Amino acid sequence: MSETIVLAYSGGLDTSVALRWLAEEYGAEVVALLVDVGQGVDREAVTARATAAGAADVVVVDAKEELAREFVLPVLQAGALYEGRYPLVSALSRPLIARHLVAVAREAGATAVAHGCTGKGNDQVRFETAVAALAPDLAVRAPVRDWGMTREQEIAYAERHGIEVPVKRGAAYSIDQNLWGRSIEAGPLEDPWTAPPEEAYALTLSPERAFHAPQEVEIELEAGVPVAVDGEELGLVELIGRAAALAGAHGVGRIDMIENRLVGIKSREVYETPAAALLLTAYAGVEELVCDRDLAHMKAELAARYATLVYNGLWYSPLRAALDAFMAQTTAAVTGTERVTLYRGSCAIAGRRADSALYDHGLATYEEGDSFQHGAAAGFIHIWSLPSKTWSAAERSREAAPA
Ligand code: ARG
Repeated sequence: MSETIVLAYSGGLDTSVALRWLAEEYGAEVVALLVDVGQGVDREAVTARATAAGAADVVVVDAKEELAREFVLPVLQAGALYEGRYPLVSALSRPLIARHLVAVAREAGATAVAHGCTGKGNDQVRFETAVAALAPDLAVRAPVRDWGMTREQEIAYAERHGIEVPVKRGAAYSIDQNLWGRSIEAGPLEDPWTAPPEEAYALTLSPERAFHAPQEVEIELEAGVPVAVDGEELGLVELIGRAAALAGAHGVGRIDMIENRLVGIKSREVYETPAAALLLTAYAGVEELVCDRDLAHMKAELAARYATLVYNGLWYSPLRAALDAFMAQTTAAVTGTERVTLYRGSCAIAGRRADSALYDHGLATYEEGDSFQHGAAAGFIHIWSLPSKTWSAAERSREAAPA
């Protein structure tokens, strides 16, 4: 009996060639798994392409809701940004796709799963580390990493095997997209001195071409979950889509960074994450009204750690479970509304209110109604500054002492 391999299939050139290559190289039945994570995919066309490439079966899964609830929401609530900037777009879909690979492999009685990643990126690490955690008995095949074909050789292989080549015209970008944003790499971006060509972008207008007037948007949050935009209640998937459209039209959410990959390479990465830009701003605005000082400071430290862990492919790990438990403690009070102004590439907090704000106007005000005990400050500072005074005196007497 021939073995069965489940391949994470996108419909692009790499995975189409990989599909046939796995079938030939291993004499395997290849099941193509297409996971819809909001990349804007034509499911019928991709299914037809997989079948034409030789798939024994094609499975299509709509995982947008899962991506939104189980992956995007936790990083939104954590405020997790890799290296302070990247909202982890591609790092979120990989563990989800891996989970579906494993589920389909179990159903099909497969002995292996496969992906179309190269040997230079983070995505291979994320897929394989996730599979190692979820199903350590399954083998993982990485044909694109193993075969050593150039792009031209891949196209020749496809033509030889009668595989339709969905060749994209124009610059050779490597693109990965889901409902949280879009990652763009390679082609002209490999020169860090070159500004990203306008054609690289698909979700955001350039700030120059964006709406000429500012737009104020209200985001409502309930216990850490965004639930409405401008008073209209929306499910999470729809709400993320709405946020992307609003922010994208104002040129908000473009990121251009030199990023440190787990595999040791510094890489020029361009992202468009309009939904993330708007929702992270809104979340932070309400949270800062309700979050205790020490908790907020600790959360910021752990958010950086959370981002690095997710970026490095350790979604399924005891540390993430523990960090999630910490973050869950911070979400309960995040109920309120945030006003955000979108204008020519910027996304700024205009105002915020929260049900259980720790902000106390009486304590904060410099006007009538001030309830702060001014006199108490002197005693507080006397004791607070005691170590400074003691240290300074010792320092001075040491300097004054003859050598
Ligand atoms: N550098 C980003 C990351 O590691 C984006 C990866 C995009 N993947 C791709 N196949 N183009 O998360």
